[in-house]
Amino acid sequence: MASNPAVWWQSAVVYQIYPRSFRDASGDGIGDLAGIISRLDYLQRLGVDVLWLSPTFPSPQDDAGYDISDYTDIDPVFGTLADFDRLLAEAHRRGMKLVLDLVVNHTSDEHPWFQQSRRGKDDPKREWYWWRGPRAGMAAGAPGAEPTNWGSAFSGSAWELDEASGEYYLHLFSRKQPDLNWENPQVREAVYAMMRWWLDRGVDGFRMDVINMISKDPRLPDGPVHGGGYGDGSAHYICGPRIHEFLQEMHQRVFAGRDAQLLTVGEMPGVTVEQARLFTDPDRHEVDMVFQFEHVQLDQGIDKFHPTGFSLLDLKASLGRWQAGLAEVGWNSLYWNNHDQPRVVSRFGDDSDQYRALSATMLGTVLHLHRGTPYVYQGEELGMTNAVFAGISDFRDIESLNYYAAALAATGSDQPMPGDPLADRTTAAEAASAGAGGGAGDAAAAEVLAALRRMSRDNARTPMQWTAGRNAGFSSGEPWIGVNPNHRTINAEAELADPDSVFHHYRKLIALRHDHPIVAVGDFGMLLPQDEQVYAFTRRLDSECWLVLGNFSGAEATATVPDAPGWAAAQLLLGNYPAVPDATSLVLRPWECRIYRRTTAPD
Ligand code: NOJ
Repeated sequence: MASNPAVWWQSAVVYQIYPRSFRDASGDGIGDLAGIISRLDYLQRLGVDVLWLSPTFPSPQDDAGYDISDYTDIDPVFGTLADFDRLLAEAHRRGMKLVLDLVVNHTSDEHPWFQQSRRGKDDPKREWYWWRGPRAGMAAGAPGAEPTNWGSAFSGSAWELDEASGEYYLHLFSRKQPDLNWENPQVREAVYAMMRWWLDRGVDGFRMDVINMISKDPRLPDGPVHGGGYGDGSAHYICGPRIHEFLQEMHQRVFAGRDAQLLTVGEMPGVTVEQARLFTDPDRHEVDMVFQFEHVQLDQGIDKFHPTGFSLLDLKASLGRWQAGLAEVGWNSLYWNNHDQPRVVSRFGDDSDQYRALSATMLGTVLHLHRGTPYVYQGEELGMTNAVFAGISDFRDIESLNYYAAALAATGSDQPMPGDPLADRTTAAEAASAGAGGGAGDAAAAEVLAALRRMSRDNARTPMQWTAGRNAGFSSGEPWIGVNPNHRTINAEAELADPDSVFHHYRKLIALRHDHPIVAVGDFGMLLPQDEQVYAFTRRLDSECWLVLGNFSGAEATATVPDAPGWAAAQLLLGNYPAVPDATSLVLRPWECRIYRRTTAPD
């Protein structure tokens, strides 16, 4: 094990900004680039190294900007290219890098490439997307005539009929997000040229949206149907046949030979540890790290809206397997939160007044002390919680709105199934106005709403809580999505002033990574895999050994690690309670965390 990080991002921490909800300078209720610039000092104070910006490109905003209609400009709602250049320069001036969201599995249906592609079967851009006729022997538009039985991630079929040509196009996400055909070398070259354009402008890398879906099996076989509804086509587009080739080609055509310190992270739903090792093996030149999904799917049943309970044993088994699997070759990214996940303190912690700050700091500590590059999602450093949604009209996210409409459409039949029948004629706005019919419909609606409240992506998207004042200091206008009422107590202003706040705890965690190579590259050793309350592990580098403890419960818990008395007497580097009462034992108070350090490692 090398004593020092081999590459800069091993000791870096990335902060994700969701621009719509970060800070609105213009007063139109939607966050913008000028707003981000006005908060760079805050981010510098937190100490993060890299900012990842969710998309700010021109977009019809069907999927909140993940439907891009122009890759080389800024949507007027967020500002201008000049604002972007200013943001980049100001971030760089403060020693922070800026990474963009690269969304190239699909474009918007309003992107000129698709507009051209849909002109007709003979258009030169036809093959830039996945067009197919109806199923053999069936008429276009007939029920079940779609070229495959695949469901889309946002409910309904993954195929949309183009009446004019009688062919369907593939959209793994909304019908306004047609999938690009990466089999076509022209598509790949156009994407690479766009990426070079941004790098030449000075950006420091890319977070690559669902990048392991770009290679599809061109035969497009049907997928298995789990219990009803649409088929699951993922075996034919997750880590498909040419994915490694495409990423290596991308590296060659975009990144090779640049001497800048760049970062690439591939978002990869369904990726396994073994595949991730290939993707992140530095000798293969694909990506630096991947976002895997295993640990954020442990509490899910047939889909995310059928949650099961949280099991600490499962969490430890999963993260431990990823630590071991990428120990020698490859690299982990570490995250609890992003713009697609509910807030971790409400999910794996306890967001009550009594335990919110303790559980948020414990969760942050456990995550940041793993080996890998941690990602902080805006507001996580404040311990922001899930939102309050009175009814369906409070939701904005297409996934939630479509799911609601689909699930209610299915009532009267059986339980809702994953990807169940939504005719997929909805836009986000249409789905929002779809309601329950009353009676049994009301009960079904209540059940679906309960699931949305727990798992909806909108939980992550409420405005950043800057102050206790109007709109949490996010905007002087009417925010595009409701502000969490708890901003009166949970906000940046209050936390900056409180040395024991979640914010200052995160600041210390980030500093630990910067100051101690053991946090970045030390060996990871899981302890107590069968303990239902305590998350415990060691990190080792040369003669140094650290012990990290986290109590995942509101009850006292004893950490029965080997040589507990020795550890109890060791240097306590960081904890989330003011003082440890008894330096001879490892009895953890509710949601307590501790990091101990010894310079002579125990056996
Ligand atoms: C993953 C992104 O994180 C999510 O927000 C988006 O809806 C889908 N990819 C489609 O781009």
